[in-house]
Parts: sequence; C-alpha cells; structure tokens
Amino acid sequence: MLRSYFKYRIKAKGAQSIHSPFLFKLYNEVVKFKGNSVSRKCEIDIKSALKSDVLIDASGFGAGSRKKNKPRKVSSIAKLSGSSARWGRFLFAMSEHFGGDTIVELGTNLGIGTSYLSRGNQGSTVHTFEGNVALHNFSSNYFKENQMTNVKSHLGSIQETLPVVLNEQNQVDLVYIDADHTYNATVHFFETLKPHLKNSSVIIFDDIHWSKGMEAAWAKIVKDEAVTLSVDLFFKGIVFFDQGLTKEHFILKH
Ligand SMILES: C[S@@+](CC[C@H](N)C(=O)[O-])C[C@H]1O[C@@H](n2cnc3c(N)ncnc32)[C@H](O)[C@@H]1O
Repeated sequence: MLRSYFKYRIKAKGAQSIHSPFLFKLYNEVVKFKGNSVSRKCEIDIKSALKSDVLIDASGFGAGSRKKNKPRKVSSIAKLSGSSARWGRFLFAMSEHFGGDTIVELGTNLGIGTSYLSRGNQGSTVHTFEGNVALHNFSSNYFKENQMTNVKSHLGSIQETLPVVLNEQNQVDLVYIDADHTYNATVHFFETLKPHLKNSSVIIFDDIHWSKGMEAAWAKIVKDEAVTLSVDLFFKGIVFFDQGLTKEHFILKH
C-alpha cells in the first residue's frame, strides 16, 4: 500500500491542471469541501455518540474480519472502521450533489458514513446494509435517536439483501461501496448494481488501493464500458456513467 501511495503522490494533480468544467466543479465543491453548519453538526453528534465504552462484537463480515474477535469498545470500532471527519465531509458533499432519490451504502458499521450521506441530502432515502446484528442494532438506534428518518437499514449478508432491495427500488442515484474489500465481493457488488444504474448515477468505492485484490477490482471497473469518467483519490475512487462525458481517468489530490 505504501508503494501505491508514493506512486499516487507523484501522479496526483490539483485544481490548476483540471480543464473539464464538470471535474473542476466536482473537485472544488466536493473533493475540497470544507464543511458547512449542517456537516459540522453531524460531526459533533457523531463524536459525542461514539465516545461510548459500550462493547460490541463487530466481527463476522468482510475482509480482515477475524472470526474470534473479542467485543470492542464503540470508540475503538469507530477509529478502526468508521469514516473519518475528513471523508465524512466528502460523503456529505457527494450526497448533496448526487444523492437524488436513492442512495445505497454497502457496509453500515456504526453508521458514521450513513449519517453524512443522510444529512447531506434530506430529500434522498439512504438504504444502508450491514451483516453484523450488533452493529445493525447500534446504528439503527443512533439513526432513530437523531431523527434520521430518511435512513432504511437492511440486516443480513449484502450478497443476499442487496438484490432484494434493488428490485424494489429499480434505480439508484448514488452508491457508496464500503464492505468486504476483496476482489470478488467488489466486482460482484458492481455487477449486481449495474442493471440499476442510470446515466446520472455515481459510485464511490472505498479503499481502492488497500490490497492487490482491491487494485485489480478498481482497474477492472475503470475499464468497464459502462464507466465514463473515473477519479482516483487514493483512499476512494469515484466512477460516473454519464454518456455525455468522455471516457477519462484522473488521479487527483485530496
Ligand atoms: C468499513 S465498515 C463500513 C464503514 C461505514 N461505511 C462508514 O463510513 O462509517 C464495513 C462494514 O461492512 C460490513 N460487511 C462487510 N462485508 C459484508 C457483507 N458481505 N454483508 C454484510 N455486511 C458486510 C462489516 O460488518 C462492517 O461493519
């Protein structure tokens, strides 16, 4: 990962080298979004809720999850698996710009990313998926206590629950794939989502350089003929399907 990071740092470009108006707007208004009063309130609420010493067994699902994990404090799960404030602001801005009617988040965990997606666009419904019962219960309570009525939580293996929800929703606007960081699962999630994408849909992938498998999955997705514009921010990748955009790949500083 370190080697990939050095390569990224050498190649990554800033605003001055962006010529496409669409990408320039994306870079300035989303990638470089510094937050507003709503995202800051979201940040404060999350910080105070996740200081908790409550113990949760967060194991069972995804790459890196150890089967015999001991229960851990909510505060330590938040540090290890939850979105940071910096990436939370990015999710908030993505939701604001591209959320449309339906947002899908694969991997709820404690609900940090979900909160930013939910608060970024009150007009969207955020469908969030989690396989671990304790995390599902914790996050569902958090959404309820914080009046995030636009969140719908789905419990179970994503491989089983996602197709059911997609058949009900038909089309999705914004997707955040942040579960099971393996080649097979990432490509499988992408293929499952594909028939439900429209011209304006956008997918964010987490941890695209986390492992060789994730880098291979990202390279395959970028090449997919349905994808037009793709953006590598190292810790996250974004793909667009808008046929009005030229097929191009950008590596941008975050
Ligand atoms: C990195 S965390 C998600 C963090 C969250 N999106 C955020 O931004 O705060 C990944 C979560 O996905 C869940 N997960 C991984 N693979 C899964 C699967 N196949 N089905 C259901 N849940 C899964 C894990 O239990 C874990 O809680």
